[in-house]
Amino acid sequence: MKNIVLIGFMGTGKTTIGQMLATRLGRTFIDVDREIEAACNMSVAQIFAEYGEACFREHESQAIKNLINYRDVVIATGGGSVLAIENVHNLKKCGLLISLGACPEVIVERIEKDTVTRPLLNRHDRLQVVTALLHERKKRYQNADFYVDTSYITPCQAADRIVEFLLEV
Ligand code: S3P
Repeated sequence: MKNIVLIGFMGTGKTTIGQMLATRLGRTFIDVDREIEAACNMSVAQIFAEYGEACFREHESQAIKNLINYRDVVIATGGGSVLAIENVHNLKKCGLLISLGACPEVIVERIEKDTVTRPLLNRHDRLQVVTALLHERKKRYQNADFYVDTSYITPCQAADRIVEFLLEV
């Protein structure tokens, strides 16, 4: 079976649903942000604060290139992974792209307690920023093999839908 690659905005459930899927399918779970942190020996927040977003994006592109070495795994990407078209091509080569989405209000509610690991949203006008970024990235998130809106379903229900899709392909 191909790798399963989860894309989507922050707070759409990539990590939670990815871990759940990996357990159900008996596969290893890989989180691209954690791969970057291991390679740099720094947290995502530290990379943003000390070296800036452009530097983080370079590490992100490298971590995505390295995914080609994995087989039969479930991968959760960072929300901005799809910004560089080169990354989109590499992710597509790597496996089936499953896109997770949610509405801006739900995203803001979910990330309320965790803006430390998400420097882009560590500000007061979060709803406006989320809405603007979602709009900018919309087309990239739509470019996937399967889409699940996680706004009003549980991670377990989202995982069910993805498993059903995997049985069809
Ligand atoms: C980002 C999403 C984050 C992390 C970084 C940038 C983005 O990952 O990669 O803070 O640009 O959307 P999650 O989507 O796992 O929160």
